[in-house]
Amino acid sequence: MRPRGGASHVTAPRPYGHDPSFRRSLALFRAFLREQDDPEGCYSLLARDAADQVEAYDGPVAGRTVVDVGGGSGYFTEEFRRRGAHAFLFEPDLTELGDRPPDSAVVADGYLLPLRDGVADVTFSSNVLEHVADPETFLSELARVTRPGGLIYVSFTNWLSPWGGHEWAPWHYFGAERARARYARRTGRPAKHRLGENLFAVHIGSTLRQVRARDDITVVSARSRYWPFLAETVVKAPGIREFATWNLLLIMRRCPT
Ligand SMILES: C[S@@+](CC[C@H](N)C(=O)[O-])C[C@H]1O[C@@H](n2cnc3c(N)ncnc32)[C@H](O)[C@@H]1O
Repeated sequence: MRPRGGASHVTAPRPYGHDPSFRRSLALFRAFLREQDDPEGCYSLLARDAADQVEAYDGPVAGRTVVDVGGGSGYFTEEFRRRGAHAFLFEPDLTELGDRPPDSAVVADGYLLPLRDGVADVTFSSNVLEHVADPETFLSELARVTRPGGLIYVSFTNWLSPWGGHEWAPWHYFGAERARARYARRTGRPAKHRLGENLFAVHIGSTLRQVRARDDITVVSARSRYWPFLAETVVKAPGIREFATWNLLLIMRRCPT
């Protein structure tokens, strides 16, 4: 994730009113295509979209405590704050935090958050799960800091998604190391991600089985994060879902203790 630019403190109008819709998906897709040239526009839009999704399931975040785990340079935290939430960023990587992180950002690993149990109304993690070696422990920590009845938002790009190889996608289908080498050859720069180091092959089927087997959380929705239609249906089709979901969004609730 790239550092934020100057316009991030301006309240931007919401680009669309319904989720899901073609207009929304198209706006997100266009923003992704411009990500390198306009990271500010891309991540601000993504942050507004994700905050809309949280509010669609849980009502306004104003006045609530939101914990953003692995939030990079803080677009999401800033958006939750703009909406009146007490939002806090926890990010382990100083480079990702950049030179202008949100106030009170905490350098912390998602495996071991410096928070007491049940402190968060909403625990939020966007596109982090595929970057941790032990997703189960990561999810346990999210559940621990969420209050009973609180919302847990987790999204990730699964390995077999067309975008699963990140900057070296879609060549990851032909092998991670080969795709990585191709990226370096084509761009003249080393790739940021390496499989087994800072990118892991996370699958939808096994992740769903894992979260559904837990007794501390219930799954409210498992859906494609960006699709304008069949967003929940696609996730119900074993095999196909690994290729067609692109990015899995899990909306979960912490069970009463
Ligand atoms: C692809 S970026 C996503 C950033 C932001 N959440 C977003 O959706 O744009 C992945 C982030 O996960 C963070 N991360 C990796 N391992 C982590 C861990 N163990 N705990 C918390 N965050 C982690 C990285 O530092 C990075 O900021």
